[in-house]
Amino acid sequence: MAKDNILVGLEIGTSKVCVVVGESKPDGPIKILGVGQAPSCGIRKGEIVDFENVHKCVREAIADAEDKSDVTIKSVFAGVTGSHIQSFNNRGCVNLPEDREEIDMDDCEDVAISARDVSIPQQNAFLHTILQHYYVDGQEGVLNPVSMLGRMLEADFHIIHGVGNRIRNTVRCVKELGIEVEDVVFNGYASAQAILSQQQKDIGAMVIDIGGGTTDYVVYIDGAVKQSGVLAIGGDHITNDISMGLRIPMAKSERLKIEEGDATLGNALPGETIFLKDETGFAGRDVERETLNTIIHFRLREVFELLKRSMDGEPYLPMLGAGIVITGGCSMMRGIGPLAQDVFGIPASVARSKATSGLIAAAENPQFSTAIGLLRYGQAAYANRPQKEGIKEFLGKLFGKR
Ligand SMILES: Nc1ncnc2c1ncn2[C@@H]1O[C@H](COP(=O)(O)OP(=O)(O)OP(=O)(O)O)[C@@H](O)[C@H]1O
Ligand SMILES: [Mg+2]
Repeated sequence: MAKDNILVGLEIGTSKVCVVVGESKPDGPIKILGVGQAPSCGIRKGEIVDFENVHKCVREAIADAEDKSDVTIKSVFAGVTGSHIQSFNNRGCVNLPEDREEIDMDDCEDVAISARDVSIPQQNAFLHTILQHYYVDGQEGVLNPVSMLGRMLEADFHIIHGVGNRIRNTVRCVKELGIEVEDVVFNGYASAQAILSQQQKDIGAMVIDIGGGTTDYVVYIDGAVKQSGVLAIGGDHITNDISMGLRIPMAKSERLKIEEGDATLGNALPGETIFLKDETGFAGRDVERETLNTIIHFRLREVFELLKRSMDGEPYLPMLGAGIVITGGCSMMRGIGPLAQDVFGIPASVARSKATSGLIAAAENPQFSTAIGLLRYGQAAYANRPQKEGIKEFLGKLFGKR
């Protein structure tokens, strides 16, 4: 983090590139100074498919953010997603040498390395090794083992990894603009930092960020991340379904979805229609409201059912005291909360990022949850490891210990 405490979050999303510039006060709220945006091109299902075009969009969004915030951007925390992102839980173990009985910081790092000592696909790189719980000589509930006496340190971790080159492409795209990447962060994990309070994490919550091309999710139980992942389905699939199902051009379908759509079945009056005006290349006509809502309902139901199925065999669902929390652009769809509640059988709500100072309006847009969460991630990373440079952490992730 620069001396002036500036943090920048960058999400290269399927629908938009978003850059949030914030000012971090130690242990205080982040003040949002400006938000830059550009429509995305060259991204499919959260992944870069046309490097040159993505590069242009990122440049545009960065320039917009610099303009709005009056800050020259030197480095960013960058979000990544895509169906290549995978995760698992594992326990690490370290035995202290005979001549030492006090646990130190290096042991904490070694226990994380030990947890990563599993085979992942050759082309993959570790993205996150997120601490769940420590154990000292079998004692549970240890919050911070440093300076404690013990012979054996163990710890459970949630480990997230993905295809190294796909992650590096995001980094290269930013670096070619002369901007450093301080760290790369899974989008779902970033969004969770923006919308969940510590209390919600403690009593259990599942965050679902539904964007244009992906649905990213993270499950917190007892304050720790237990599960995370990506579905390559998002709001653009709904638009596509409307376009195909009702034979309407994509741009018109997108507008119809946003302005008139509702995920609730049976909400329309019998025979109720929406009139679509004629425009060049499109003869105006009526669309049945219930048909539109049915298309939206079934695509979103599919997303929630797939997520629920991913929790099959895990005991987590009844442990989510704070329920399901939905964010991302698609969370603005009418009726989405009750639909999620119906599928999961537990309370579900729609959320945007928690109050920050500065441009409060930015925090109110759920499309910015990932980028704002990246600022929170950055603030916490610096608070926890003030003596380290972020970029070194990041390089370690991608090129160092696998
Ligand atoms: N008011 C609204 N109602 C319903 N859907 C909306 C609304 N506003 C935006 N969306 C949808 O939200 C999606 C974009 O969300 P978002 O900006 O979070 O995606 P993204 O971050 O660019 O993509 P991803 O994270 O999937 O790579 C689009 O599919 C868009 O149609
Ligand atoms: Mg997104």
